[in-house]
Amino acid sequence: MTRFGIIGGGLMGHGIAVALAQAGHRVVVYDADPATLASLDERIVRALERCDMLPGDAGLVTARITAAKTLSDMVVRVDAVIEAVPERLDVKHQVLEALEAKIPAVMPVWSNTSVLSLTEVAEGMRHPQRLVGVHWWNPPYLIPLVEVAPGAETDHRFVREACDVLNGMGKTTVRLHRDVPGFIGNRLQFALVREALHLLEQEVCDPVTIDTVMRASLGLRWSAVGPMENADFIGLDLTRNILDSLAPHLSAAVTFPALDEPLNAGQRGRASGGGLLTWPPGRGEEVAQRLESGIRRNLVGP
Ligand SMILES: NC(=O)c1ccc[n+]([C@@H]2O[C@H](COP(=O)([O-])OP(=O)(O)OC[C@H]3O[C@@H](n4cnc5c(N)ncnc54)[C@H](O)[C@@H]3O)[C@@H](O)[C@H]2O)c1
Repeated sequence: MTRFGIIGGGLMGHGIAVALAQAGHRVVVYDADPATLASLDERIVRALERCDMLPGDAGLVTARITAAKTLSDMVVRVDAVIEAVPERLDVKHQVLEALEAKIPAVMPVWSNTSVLSLTEVAEGMRHPQRLVGVHWWNPPYLIPLVEVAPGAETDHRFVREACDVLNGMGKTTVRLHRDVPGFIGNRLQFALVREALHLLEQEVCDPVTIDTVMRASLGLRWSAVGPMENADFIGLDLTRNILDSLAPHLSAAVTFPALDEPLNAGQRGRASGGGLLTWPPGRGEEVAQRLESGIRRNLVGP
């Protein structure tokens, strides 16, 4: 499998295209929005610059990625398709229905959904056995992890094939035994976000303090030793004692006033200039750069 089609050339679609092309695959990107398609080349070049790729090598990578103005034009040039359209079940269903009308029954389809149930994404598909959840992390050309999961009707041959391709690219793949919303990473991530919001609502600290605690402690620890190894390392008896004391105080909330308050005031975060923190002009770009350079620093290893 060397020719991939990507539906949706937004943040993830263009990043996945770069990751695949860096590994030698050919990629055709289709997006319903002509402006997104028009900016594809420029965004790919910028991503490669941020990877510190030499111009000659970057040229080889960009030459492997082309844009398609229609879905029909894309599907005739590929062996597998990745959907990276917005995280809405109705949009995914509409895209998969249009796609399946144009491709052979055996062509693999990967969904980059973050938190939707794969089984629900596959509902209505003519051939749900070919749908595999392949969850990349942003930026896909830098973050090693790709989570792979089946829906209830997925044929495990397609799951194995996806893992083989990704492992061949040097990715770190993990394979879930079954479909759960959020795979593993987002479940862990949002358990932590929920507790952070709980601390804000309890007026324990401000949002900047939460980020300081994470970046100066757990963010460092967890890139070296995961929470399961750490539980064994400190001892399961101690881990159990801590949970006995702490668990009753941890959030199990399903409502989030600390988010609703800024949202109701039109504060959506970076895009609106304010959210939990303030976002003066330039901060968004600075954070994007710090994110990528920080990940690259960690990847170099000890
Ligand atoms: N943003 C992240 O960090 C991240 C990480 C992992 C997974 N994901 C998942 O990846 C998927 C895409 O997210 P994103 O952040 O790239 O979104 P995005 O909004 O940046 O990109 C989505 C693209 O899909 C296009 N699109 C919408 N409807 C379409 C259609 N019918 N046909 C073709 N193209 C269409 C849009 O024009 C847009 O360019 C979502 O399922 C999201 O949950 C996102």
